[in-house]
Amino acid sequence: MRPSTTAQAPGRARRRVAAGAAAAIFGLGVALAGGLTTAASAAEASTYSGIILGVGANETQRIVTWYSSADTAQKVQVAPTASIVNGEFPADAVSFDAVGAANTSTTGYNRHVTITNLKENTAYSYRVGSEGSWSPAYSFRTQDFEGDYDFLFFGDPQIGSSGDIAKDQAGWAETLRYATTANPDIELLVSGGDHVESANNEAQWSAFLAPDELRKYPVAATIGNHDVGGKSWEQHHFTPNTDRSSQYYNGDQSTRSGGDFWYIYKDVLFIDLNSNSYVNPTDGSLGGDAAHVAYVTDVVKKHGAEAKWTVLVYHHSIYSPASHATDGDNKQRRKDFTTAFSDLGVDMVLQGHDHSYSRSYAIKNGQKENPAEQPGAAEVFPGPGGVIYVTANSASGSKYYDIKKPNPADKDPHGNGPDPLNPDSYWYNSVQNQEHVRSYVKVQVKADKLVVENIRSGTCAAPNAAVEKGLSCTNTPEGEPVGSIVDKVTIHPYHGNGQDIQVNVPTATGEFGWTIDGYNGLVNLGTAQERNGWYFEATGSINPIVVSDSRFSLAPWSISANVSDFRDGDKTFSGSYLGWSPKVVEAGAGAQAGSAVVSGYDDQGQGLAISRGLGAADQGHARGTAKLGADLDLKFPNEVAKGSYRATLTITALSS
Ligand SMILES: [Fe+2]
Repeated sequence: MRPSTTAQAPGRARRRVAAGAAAAIFGLGVALAGGLTTAASAAEASTYSGIILGVGANETQRIVTWYSSADTAQKVQVAPTASIVNGEFPADAVSFDAVGAANTSTTGYNRHVTITNLKENTAYSYRVGSEGSWSPAYSFRTQDFEGDYDFLFFGDPQIGSSGDIAKDQAGWAETLRYATTANPDIELLVSGGDHVESANNEAQWSAFLAPDELRKYPVAATIGNHDVGGKSWEQHHFTPNTDRSSQYYNGDQSTRSGGDFWYIYKDVLFIDLNSNSYVNPTDGSLGGDAAHVAYVTDVVKKHGAEAKWTVLVYHHSIYSPASHATDGDNKQRRKDFTTAFSDLGVDMVLQGHDHSYSRSYAIKNGQKENPAEQPGAAEVFPGPGGVIYVTANSASGSKYYDIKKPNPADKDPHGNGPDPLNPDSYWYNSVQNQEHVRSYVKVQVKADKLVVENIRSGTCAAPNAAVEKGLSCTNTPEGEPVGSIVDKVTIHPYHGNGQDIQVNVPTATGEFGWTIDGYNGLVNLGTAQERNGWYFEATGSINPIVVSDSRFSLAPWSISANVSDFRDGDKTFSGSYLGWSPKVVEAGAGAQAGSAVVSGYDDQGQGLAISRGLGAADQGHARGTAKLGADLDLKFPNEVAKGSYRATLTITALSS
C-alpha cells in the first residue's frame, strides 16, 4: 500500500462562507495490485540525526529537516499529542512523505517534510522515519493563529569559534534553555546566521543541533558567512518560499549554500536574505545587493498587504558597533539597501555578524531620521520610512567583538562618524552594548507596536567560552543577573496623515462555515480487490466535513462534491466509477445527508464525476454544528492497467 500523504488545502484551515461558494480538495488514492510506487522496505532500518523543526510558509505549517544513514523512503508522522497513548501513535496519525537527496558535503542523506494544515492551539507530536524504524517522538504546540505573539532572535552561535566545540555548545544550549524557560510561549526562534565556525564541519553542526528546543520551537535559520562555504547549511535547513536562483548565491551553487526566502507568521512578513552575496556582477546582470533589493521589493509588493509588519533578517549587519562596523561591504550596503527599505515600509531589520548588541535610531534613506531622537529612548516613533536596525550579540559566548570608537574625521554620511548626542557611539546607533555576556533578543509583536528587548542569558560565568579562555568580563550575578535587560524599546509604527482604524473580530457567532475534520489527509482506498474476474472494487470513507451555521437568518445551505478522473502518470480511468453513500456522522445545523450515488460501473451513469450533494439543510433549520461523512465505493473494469491512481475530490459549499 502506498504510504499515505496529505494533500495541501489552499488557504486557512477554516473556510467561512457568508454567501456564495467555496471549494477545497481532497486527494483520493487507490492502488492496484502490483502497482506499488514509493513504498520502501519497512525492514530497511536507518538512523536519523540532526532533526530540526523549521518555520513553514505560515503559522499553519512546520518544516522538519534531518539526516539519515540510509537512502530509504521516509516520512514524518504527526498526531495530536493528546491522541498518543503509552508512546504509541494512533492509527489515524497523518504522514507526510519526505523528499531529499544524498548529502554532498558529508556522508549519508538529507530529508525534509512540510507539515501542513496544523490547527491552532494544539499540541502535536511527531517522529521521522518509516514503519519499524522511527526516531524518538518530539513535540511542538501551535497557538492562536491571530493576534499578538513573541519571537526570539539569536546572534552568531558560531559553534567551534572558541576552539572548543563542547564549551560553545554548552553556552548555546544554556541560552536556548534559559530563553525558552523564561518565555515558554514564544512562537519562533529566528537566527541571525553563523551557526557554525566551519561550514561543512558536521561535529559543529551536531553541537549546534543538539538542544531539544530546536525540535520544539520552529527555527527560522539565516545563513551567515561561516555557513555559506558548503552545502551542509542547506542540507540541515530547508526553508519555505526559497528562491535558489544564482543571484542569491555567491559562488558555485553546487558547493555553496544560499537563497533568499520569505514567510508570513501571523502579522509579520519576514524576508530572509543571503547577505553573503552582495557584489554586483561586472557583466551588468542582476546580482548582489541589487538582486536582494529586487527580491525584497517583489515580495513586499506581492505579500506586504498580507501582514501588518515587515521584518528583514540577514547576517551582515550594516549598522553595528564593533569589529565589522567599518567593513567595506557594510558601508556599501548603507547605500545599496537603506533607501529601498525605507521606501518599502520595512519596520525592522535583524542582523548578526558583529557579535555585539546595537539598536539603531530610526534610519530613513540611510540617515538618522529625526536628529532629536535621544540615545537609548524607550519609546520610538519612526516617521514614514523610518527603519530600526538591530544587531544581536553572541548567543553562545563563543566569540565577542569589542565596540570600536567612531572616527570624528569620517565625514561620509554613510560612514562611521560619532553621534553628536553621544560622541562615544556611532551616529546611527541609539544603543550599543558589549559585556562579554551571552544574550538574546526578544520581540513582542503587538497590534500597534513592536517591543524589542536585549536580555542577558548568562553572566561572566561558564558556560561562556570566550571568557573561559581568558577574555575579560566584569558582570556579576548580583549586578546584571541572568534575565536582566540590556535594552528595551517600544517601536510605534507610522500611520500616515490620517488615522488607522482597527477592530478585532472574535470568532463569529453568526456565520456559516465548514472545515475538514482533522487533517486534509489522503483518502487512501488501499489496494483494489478483483471481484468475480470482472471488475475491481475499493472502498473507504472521506475525511468528514464539519459544518457550522450560527447565523440568525437560518438560511439554507448545501455541501456538494465531484471527483476528477483517476490518474497515474499518463494512465487514467473515469471518476464516474466512484459512488458514495453520504451520512450525517454528528447531527446538527439541520443537516440531512445527500442521496446515495452508485458507481457508474453499476448503472453506466456519471457517479461522482458530476456534482453530487453530500448534505444540506433547509430554510429555517436549527443553528449548530454537524459532521458529514460518506462511504466511498469505487468499482471499475478489470482492464484498467495496474498502477497507483489518484483523483481529486472538490468540495463546494453553497449558502444564500
Ligand atoms: Fe559572521
